[in-house]
Amino acid sequence: MADLDDLRKGNNFAIGVTSGEQRFHVKGAANLPWGMKDQLSRIFNPATGKAVMLAFDHGFIMGPTSGLERIDLNILPLVEYADCLMCTRGILQSVVPPTVNKPVCLRSDAGTSILTELNDNVIIDIEDAIRLNVSAMAVMLAIGDTSYEAKTIANLYKMVDLGSRYGIPVMGVTAVGKQMARDARYFGLASRICAENGAHIVKTYYCEGFDKVAAACPVPVVIAGGKKLPEKEALELCYKAIQDGAAGVDMGRNVFQSPSTQAMIQAVHAVVHTGITAEQGYELYQDLAK
Ligand code: R5P
Repeated sequence: MADLDDLRKGNNFAIGVTSGEQRFHVKGAANLPWGMKDQLSRIFNPATGKAVMLAFDHGFIMGPTSGLERIDLNILPLVEYADCLMCTRGILQSVVPPTVNKPVCLRSDAGTSILTELNDNVIIDIEDAIRLNVSAMAVMLAIGDTSYEAKTIANLYKMVDLGSRYGIPVMGVTAVGKQMARDARYFGLASRICAENGAHIVKTYYCEGFDKVAAACPVPVVIAGGKKLPEKEALELCYKAIQDGAAGVDMGRNVFQSPSTQAMIQAVHAVVHTGITAEQGYELYQDLAK
């Protein structure tokens, strides 16, 4: 029982002062429940509305690819500069110390390797995501793939149902088949389909006309970096994407395959969050890489 002896009567009700309207910094999320918003706020910085997600889930398809041979040595030194970690449950549990205290976007589907074409991907058990305390779950969509389009849309749909039940946002990842054109029409279609099916975040690729892709997607779009580019070009990619309406990057190879990984992630972070130009970002990279 609380102590009643010194129960003080409230007298500071600010009568006449309207309560502050709360706006939310993540696109399309204003009507979500508190728990979802809390998770999204852990990923997207409330001060800038942007996020640098460090993607190192590639091993689930590619195995120990260049830059990810030793995640303990290659990736852990970068974690402090990332807003969010994107990885598989295996790497999270076996290599990433829980003490890093970073939000995790968990790769939540599996079933494909580089040795085969796209396979019958399945989604992980939601209980696993809850146990791992993740802030988002990433599920791939193969839009335009006649064999797996429906299956992967169903995976996303199911994951959104489960995520909504437990307050975990879902990121739709637009996979691009070899036969697909990598243009604004395709990425606009794929991104919109992710959002229409309930994705709270969409990951896609930058392309000519990306401003239309971002504008037509009612939730935040983050861009993957794709194959390794020279650092200056990778920073230009980040800059153009942000200028054209991206809410951040979910970048892997252009960070962890850089000759100076720590310099690169800090330069990417500055371009995404502070609005510096690609040139300024590259200067920062060069300074930090010395
Ligand atoms: C690829 O399977 C993964 O989903 C990656 O997370 C994604 O492609 C981003 O990594 P990168 O910047 O290397 O393309």
